[in-house]
Amino acid sequence: MPQRIVAGNWKMNGSRDFAAAYLAALAGDVLPGSGCDVLLFPPATLLPLLATRVEELGIELGIQTVHPEPEGAFTGEIAAEMAVDAGATWTLIGHSERRQLLGESDADTALRALAARRAGLKPMLCVGETLVERQGGDAESVVTRQLDAVLDVLGEDLAAGGIAYEPVWAIGTGETASPEMAQAMHGMIRGVLRRRSARLAEMPILYGGSVKPANAAALFAEVDIDGALVGGASLDPAAFQAIIKAMETHGNP
Ligand code: PGA
Repeated sequence: MPQRIVAGNWKMNGSRDFAAAYLAALAGDVLPGSGCDVLLFPPATLLPLLATRVEELGIELGIQTVHPEPEGAFTGEIAAEMAVDAGATWTLIGHSERRQLLGESDADTALRALAARRAGLKPMLCVGETLVERQGGDAESVVTRQLDAVLDVLGEDLAAGGIAYEPVWAIGTGETASPEMAQAMHGMIRGVLRRRSARLAEMPILYGGSVKPANAAALFAEVDIDGALVGGASLDPAAFQAIIKAMETHGNP
């Protein structure tokens, strides 16, 4: 069975005070022993602070992106090795905000995924179509292209991480893909992975895009939805915990 994961993507939000209060709110309730893996992707500045508490809370940390190179004259960038040094064990790869706002191409995602594995980070590869692509009937081909770009360079090594299907039109908009719509794409993704190898087919496939306590349970009941990558709602520890609980209760065994 694929690993079950609930991940919080804080994006460019949070301070040291916010992180300390957040951890205090998480401690003593759901974690540890939540029945699924819990990951947080805070801004890189907060990794060292959060890293001091991960063992006690039973969570893992990730960085939101890594630069392809291990070091050098790349002002403002962070290498995968530096993320490991700061306490990360995961990294997002190809989040749609980076693809759309920062022009990250499929080729870039492949290089960043290679860098992640070079440093021993687990890649969470984000894929998803825009509204125009969905309306044009291209959703599946876009997602397949985004998957193939990384699978072609990493092959089975991608199985160290996970996939997050995040339709761009559902991110931060309050619009969620219906459970059936999400399941259809997750099943398609599972098929792409299975055609490559049995090990890849066992990868966790997370859904992302306006996941909230109110819609999490129905999404998690779908057979190929192994978790969630949660943006906005992950900034509220009570909402994030409620989503973790929904996974415990309604997730696939
Ligand atoms: P959202 O973001 O939950 O705020 O829609 C999800 C994401 O971008 O990972």
